[in-house]
Amino acid sequence: MTPASRSGRVEGGGDSLPPYTRTLSFSAVAGAATSARAEALVVYALQGAKGVEGVESGKLRASLEALVRSEGFRAKRGTTLLLHTAGLFPAKRVLIAGLGRREDLDLDAIRAAAGAAARRADQSSASSITFAPPPEFPGAPTRERVRAVVDGCLLGVYRLRKYFTGEKAQEDGSLREAEIRVPARELEAALEGVREASAFCASTNLARDLVNEPAIVITPVRIAAIASSLAKKAGIECHVHDEKQLEKLGMGAFLGVSRGSHQPPRLIHLIHRPRGKPIRKVALIGKGITFDSGGLSLKTSSGMETMKLDKAGAVAVLATMLALPALKTRAEVHGFMGMTENMPGGAAIKPGDVLRTTGGKTIEVLNTDAEGRLVLADLLAHAESLKFDEVIDLATLTGACMVALGPLAGGLFSNDDALASRLLKASEASGEKLWRLPLYEEYTDQLQSEIADVRNTADRYGSAITAALFLREFIGPKTPWAHLDIAGPAFLETAAHPYMRRGATGMGVRTLLEYLSTYS
Ligand code: BES
Ligand code: MN
Ligand code: ZN
Repeated sequence: MTPASRSGRVEGGGDSLPPYTRTLSFSAVAGAATSARAEALVVYALQGAKGVEGVESGKLRASLEALVRSEGFRAKRGTTLLLHTAGLFPAKRVLIAGLGRREDLDLDAIRAAAGAAARRADQSSASSITFAPPPEFPGAPTRERVRAVVDGCLLGVYRLRKYFTGEKAQEDGSLREAEIRVPARELEAALEGVREASAFCASTNLARDLVNEPAIVITPVRIAAIASSLAKKAGIECHVHDEKQLEKLGMGAFLGVSRGSHQPPRLIHLIHRPRGKPIRKVALIGKGITFDSGGLSLKTSSGMETMKLDKAGAVAVLATMLALPALKTRAEVHGFMGMTENMPGGAAIKPGDVLRTTGGKTIEVLNTDAEGRLVLADLLAHAESLKFDEVIDLATLTGACMVALGPLAGGLFSNDDALASRLLKASEASGEKLWRLPLYEEYTDQLQSEIADVRNTADRYGSAITAALFLREFIGPKTPWAHLDIAGPAFLETAAHPYMRRGATGMGVRTLLEYLSTYS
C-alpha cells in the first residue's frame, strides 16, 4: 500500500466502489398514468396552451386544468406545479411539468420537465413517481421520448451525498422507484427506451461520482484500482501501467507532467472485445489530471478551486467502457486514461524544459499549466502506433473553449468530416451539446519552437484551436481523429442547466455510448 492510497482511504471514508449514489429503478408499464397509486404523478403542460398533456379527458383532467388555471401556472420549460390531491386521485401528489411552447418542443424540453418534476418529488418525501407519456411531436418516436423522460429523472435527482452527515444527509433524496405508463401498443418501445436510458444514465452518474470525488481521494493509483475492479465486474480487460512502464514506453511528456507530484502516474488501458470479428477498432483517450494546480505556472487560488474536474475526460472514457459489454457494439474499443496530478513540487518541469514523447517528437514546455496536451501527446502517439480505425479524445483542455461555448456545449475538432458528423448526430440524440470548431492551418505557425519540434503554448486568442492543432501533431494524418474539449460542460459552477445540478455532469458518456451503439 503506497502512502498515497492510504490517505485516500482515510479521507474518503473507506474503500467502497462507486457508484456512491442510490440507484433509482425505472420501469415501463402499460396503462393509464392517472390510475397509478404513486406518491407523485407527473403530467405535462404546454406554455400558451389551455390543457394538460398525458391525462385522458374526463373529470380528472377537467379538475386538473381548473387548478392549473387558478394557480396561474405558465408551463415554462423546466418549471413545475405541485398539487396535493387530497384523495381526488389514486396518486398522492400531482406534478404538472412545464414543457415550454409547442413549437419549441424537443427532447431536451422533456428532459428538463422530467428532471424538474423528479427533483421536486425527491424533495417532497415521495418514494415513488409515475410519469405520464410525454406528448408526441414529429421526429420523436416513443422510444426517444421515453428515453428523454428517464434521462431527465435519473440525471435530475443525482447528488453525491457520501460526505454529508447529520441533518444534511437526510435532506431530500426520498425517491426509490420510478415508472412511466404508456398505452399497451407502445410498451415494447417504451421498455427498450427505459432499458437503454437507464444504462446510459447509470454510467453517466458513475462518472459524476468519480469526478465529484475530491483529489485527495481520487489519486492516479486509487482510480487505477477502482478501474480494475469495475472492469473485472463488467467483463472488460484492464491493464494498468506504472511509472516504470511509462518510462519503457518513452512517454516523456506524460512523465514530465507527473514529476511535480508525490503521486505516481498511471496509464490505464481498458479493452472491450466484441463477440465475433470486430467491424472497427476504436480508441477513446481521456485526459486524467486528478488535480491541476497549474504546476510551476501556478493557477490563482480561485482558478484551481474546481480543478478536481480535470480528470473528467478520462473518467468519461472509463464510464463508457464499463457500459460496452451490455451494448452489443461490434466495435473493438480501447480506452486509454492518462492519470497524473499536475503539481509544482521540487522536481516539477520548468518553463523552457524540453520533453520527448513516445513517438520521438519533442516539445518545449513554455507553460506548465498547458499540461493536458502533454499527456495527450503521448497517448495519441501511443494509439497511433497501435493502429486504430478512429481515435477520439476527451479532455477538459482549455479555458478558452469554455469562454467560447459556455457551460452547455463542448468543442468538437476533427480531421475527418464523416467522423465529425457521426459524433454530432450522436450528440443531438444524447442532448450533450457539441459544437464543431475549426482547425485553421494558418495558426499552426504559432506552435513553432526555436529549440524543439513544437511548443506547448500559442497566442492568447484562439487557444482552444491551437491546443487542438497541437494534439493533431501527434496523430497520423490518415487516422480519423476527433478531439472533444469538454472544459465547459464537464463541470457546472452554477445551477444553469435544465436537468443537472452543480458539479460533474458526466459529459461525453451518453454521446459516446450513443455513437458506439451505432456499430451494431
Ligand atoms: N485544465 C485546464 C483547462 C480548464 C480551465 C478546464 C478551466 C476547466 C476549467 C488546462 O489544463 C489549462 O490550464 N489550460 C490553460 C492553457 C493555457 C496555459 C495555454 C488555459 O486554458 O488557460
Ligand atoms: Mn492546466
Ligand atoms: Zn488541465
